[in-house]
Amino acid sequence: MIRSVVSTVALLALATPAFAAGEVNIYSSRHYDTDDALYSNFEDATGITVNRIEDNADVLIERMRSEGELGAADVFITVDASRIGRADAADLLQPIGSDKVDATVPANLHADNDHWIGISTRARLIFFDKNDVTEPPQTYEDLADPKYKGMICTRSGSNPYMLSLLGSIIAHDGEEAARAWVAGVKDNFAREPQGGDTDQLRGLISGECDIAVANHYYYARGLQSEVSGLTDGIETIGVVFPNQETTGTHINISAAGLAKYSPNPDNARAFIEYLLTPEAQQMIANGNNEFPVVEGVEPSEVVIGLGDFRRDELPVDAFSTRTDLAQKIYNEVGYK
Ligand SMILES: [Fe+2]
Repeated sequence: MIRSVVSTVALLALATPAFAAGEVNIYSSRHYDTDDALYSNFEDATGITVNRIEDNADVLIERMRSEGELGAADVFITVDASRIGRADAADLLQPIGSDKVDATVPANLHADNDHWIGISTRARLIFFDKNDVTEPPQTYEDLADPKYKGMICTRSGSNPYMLSLLGSIIAHDGEEAARAWVAGVKDNFAREPQGGDTDQLRGLISGECDIAVANHYYYARGLQSEVSGLTDGIETIGVVFPNQETTGTHINISAAGLAKYSPNPDNARAFIEYLLTPEAQQMIANGNNEFPVVEGVEPSEVVIGLGDFRRDELPVDAFSTRTDLAQKIYNEVGYK
């Protein structure tokens, strides 16, 4: 009799949290090997079941738009300010409303309207071939200097990383200066924009490029593991953290936002708060050699090895809202 009561109580204790806790639906365009552990740790800690929908950001944004008020999305996760900005501009997000988020996320990485936060950061750097370049550009603005004619490789101007970078230049220097910068960099191309960030770094090793622009973690990945066309010869690549004497190095984010029609907003809030725990921060940042956003959490060894630098503290809002103008400028100048 007693045994049966105990086991019923034990069963109830096991069953109740799962029943009460429910689920959370994550629409994510960011996928790394560490994600499985990230999500299962949240499930273990809260009893909330995580359902993941993974696809590219544009597909997920379109899906949320077409699902409208009947949407299943609770949390939208993506990389790059321009993409989370696009979701917000499409009216697909709502305020997170969490004291923990307010207290933990640096203000410049938190949307003014509280619709999204940065969950990790990435720096956009200048790289150069140490064998060929003795005076590398020290600022983004320097990339437009005619002395670098025929030397520069970047990816396409329609890429979100390039849109955010130009958005930040518009915010700092104004639209006309930004337009002149785009024209100047275009005049310095070693080749037409092509490929991803890793391909810009590969171009330094193959000799096609003398100077390249890429996010720091592509270089870190080449140092940490075997990346074809990059790791072999990576010691010939020099690294510049741009704008140390002026605005600081351009910082972008991986982002999480609360979906406007979230069917499980309390669970969504709990999940976003979980992303800011030291354990989750370590997994999010180190899975891709990014920087954690929470003070006191260390980046990976290889990222620590890149050294300290001054970051641009321009609010991410200031460029996530200028990427349409950035695209217009790239198009008008003919920057592919
Ligand atoms: Fe990337």
